[in-house]
Amino acid sequence: MTNTYNDKVVAQFTVMTVVWGIVGMAVGVLIAAQLLWPALNFDIPWLSYGRLRPLHTNAVIFAFGGSALFATSYWCVQRTCQVPLFAPKLAAFTFWGWMAVIVAAAITLPLGITQGKEYAELEWPIAILIALVWVSYAIVFFGTIVKRKTPHIYVANWFFGAFILTVAVLHIVNNLAMPVSLWHSYPIYSGTVDAMVQWWYGHNAVGFFLTAGFLGIMYYFVPKQAERPIYSYRLSIVHFWALIALYMWAGPHHLHYTALPDWAQSLGMVFSLLLLAPSWGGMINGIMTLSGAWHKLRTDPILKFMIVSLSFYGMATFEGPMMGIKTVNALSHYTDWTVGHVHAGALGWVAFITIGAVYALIPKLFGRERMYSVKAIDLHFWIATIGVVLYISAMWIAGVMQGLMWRAVNDDGTLTYTFVEALNATYPYYAVRLLGGLLFLSGMLLMLWNMLKTIYSEKPHEA
Ligand code: HEM
Ligand code: HEM
Repeated sequence: MTNTYNDKVVAQFTVMTVVWGIVGMAVGVLIAAQLLWPALNFDIPWLSYGRLRPLHTNAVIFAFGGSALFATSYWCVQRTCQVPLFAPKLAAFTFWGWMAVIVAAAITLPLGITQGKEYAELEWPIAILIALVWVSYAIVFFGTIVKRKTPHIYVANWFFGAFILTVAVLHIVNNLAMPVSLWHSYPIYSGTVDAMVQWWYGHNAVGFFLTAGFLGIMYYFVPKQAERPIYSYRLSIVHFWALIALYMWAGPHHLHYTALPDWAQSLGMVFSLLLLAPSWGGMINGIMTLSGAWHKLRTDPILKFMIVSLSFYGMATFEGPMMGIKTVNALSHYTDWTVGHVHAGALGWVAFITIGAVYALIPKLFGRERMYSVKAIDLHFWIATIGVVLYISAMWIAGVMQGLMWRAVNDDGTLTYTFVEALNATYPYYAVRLLGGLLFLSGMLLMLWNMLKTIYSEKPHEA
């Protein structure tokens, strides 16, 4: 570990990224199995699907994704500003505070304690702790930027900074609530306004938590791993401003054909379509960074994770704007197509870029030349790729099929299929998704083994 930079907190978050990834994905595999065999809840309330599903989403987004973002942003901001972290004690508080939030979530969600707002389920005492941790994170991150020794602020920090600021605003506004007891509260908004605030939050959680932050990872770790400068610095600046200006307005696409005023739905649709441009600009900037270094893909599995993550990012951000079109959404909404889209982004983009960055970080954090086994990284890459492809293609087929079955009508105007017929037709695809999830999870277990071996053995395996 270097003396100048504060890397202890980076190492803590990096290790926990792998641990929480495994926990969150294991719960994902369990709920995928429950959709196939509902009896797997054993009639125990805290094992029921409705309680475990939010546990899965919170664990993968905030515990796995969040730990990765803390680790990589703290690593990147110190190197690109050439100063150690500002307020190291506060940085340590962000680690322990964030872990406390996760543990509190893992206890309360299975107990059924929830606000019932997707991705903002945690009740008010935990929401307050999140706000405290997040403000501390902002002080550490921006304090480091203020202290910097470099004349300019590297673009990755712009993305990390936007992610930190926006998530603070989103979290606080969407969680304004009136507590009625220690574990129960009511939102201050009601009806359609509540729904709009919730999906303004929900969509920007995707845009800033699952996208802007991970783009920060891309802008730092892809050039580093490829040992090439970023393809176009100018494009990265256009990418940044266009992305953050457009994302804020697209939330209503989650509320098509609801009580939300029609003009607001159409506004959401237009901004969703516009989002294609900056998303693809960013993807192209990342992929083209490999210009002149393509041959490295043959030998470097870490780079493979990163480049394939960008391809999935491109796929999800093409699909998203299409699903934002009202007529397309009429087919996709409520179906497994949405779940396929989510995991193209969540597994293909978020998890892949995270895995790449974590493999790049571990040897540096623990003073090793490289990971214990490069072959194991390559194997992980293939298992994970097959896993994601199985998961998302199964959900795409299932989703389109469900949408078409639900809307099919006979000549006399009655429905052609009952809901149960559509459900029965979906089971084979649920089995394929489960297989994909199991493959992805086994890749993560391999990663854990490789990480522990790197930390605890002196020499790499292939040496
Ligand atoms: C082994 C890997 C994974 C498996 C097996 C898995 C499985 C599942 C399942 C079964 C659902 C519920 C779908 C439904 O209600 O119909 C779900 C939802 C969800 N998962 Fe995963 N998941 C995995 C990894 C991830 C990761 C890494 C992320 C994020 C980084 C993620 C984010 C989500 C989100 C946001 C939802 C809610 C989707 C929605 O409401 O449309 N998942 N997952
Ligand atoms: C240009 C970018 C994108 C656009 C315009 C977009 C658009 C959409 C649309 C229209 C839906 C369906 C809403 C519904 O019918 O309920 C959706 C759902 C979703 N998308 Fe995207 N998407 C984009 C990128 C992404 C990425 C990169 C990720 C993940 C990293 C992602 C994660 C999600 C999640 C989690 C949901 C499910 C929300 C829920 O219902 O719980 N999206 N998106």
